[in-house]
Amino acid sequence: MSEQNIEQYKISTEPYYQPVSDEVNLYEAAYGARMPVMLKGPTGCGKSRFVEYMAWKLGRPLITVACNEDMTASDLVGRFLLDKEGTVWQDGPLTIAARIGAICYLDEVVEARQDTTVVIHPLTDHRRVLPLDKKGELVQAHPDFQLVISYNPGYQSLMKDLKQSTKQRFAALDFDYPAEEIETQIVQHETGVDAETAGKLVQIAHRARNLKGHGLDEGISTRLLVYAGQLIAKGVDPVAACSMTLVRPLTDDPDMRDTLDAAVTTFFAS
Ligand SMILES: Nc1ncnc2c1ncn2[C@@H]1O[C@H](COP(=O)(O)OP(=O)(O)O)[C@@H](O)[C@H]1O
Ligand SMILES: [Mg+2]
Repeated sequence: MSEQNIEQYKISTEPYYQPVSDEVNLYEAAYGARMPVMLKGPTGCGKSRFVEYMAWKLGRPLITVACNEDMTASDLVGRFLLDKEGTVWQDGPLTIAARIGAICYLDEVVEARQDTTVVIHPLTDHRRVLPLDKKGELVQAHPDFQLVISYNPGYQSLMKDLKQSTKQRFAALDFDYPAEEIETQIVQHETGVDAETAGKLVQIAHRARNLKGHGLDEGISTRLLVYAGQLIAKGVDPVAACSMTLVRPLTDDPDMRDTLDAAVTTFFAS
């Protein structure tokens, strides 16, 4: 692959990432050992932003794949396509990453079927190879290649979980919603609302997060707080903004909506 094509996967400007603990150093050490890493945590807590930041910091190209249950091994590895000349092989995102020495980020890998997940196994042990069975090629991963997966333990079920044989190929970093002060800074920075407004949004989220397991499957994410702040910054009334971004996406249960709406009006009384 040409230099120009590699460039398209590079992150040119520093992504805004607010560290929450020692995750930057730990990740750097893991990358130094080219160790596969699993990022665990609820949706919208900063996992993807962290990977983008680390790829930028390490100067590596980043190839992200959003995994889903319809995904096949060919979607990752590649397939033969028909064109005028006949059949041509087209590398999938995992193969491209292995060839160019990118960080390959498989987002929500649990969503993929297990027969898809196993294709990453030979890349995660000392062999660092990727067999392209249909093409009859064994790709030796570039020395800078690294595999990163994300995983939401909250969605874990017996049907949908990673096999131990997959899990135990990764070092893991736990992610969670950032501490109050840090999360307030993030909301401010991402949206331009003032510190007081950002602080109120974070307080509302804390109330909702306490309801997790008591009628809510998942708390209000940092991502949703950023949405709320963006609407408020555009001049939307805060109560309406919160209803649209913090309450309605989360639940359809009328009682739970009332509870959350009440939390919103506590902080943004009209
Ligand atoms: N530590 C952080 N530093 C900067 N922004 C963050 C951080 N955590 C969360 N965010 C904000 O929250 C949004 C959602 O985070 P994201 O990384 O997409 O979540 P995840 O991948 O865990 O679902 C980001 O777009 C960003 O605005
Ligand atoms: Mg993500």
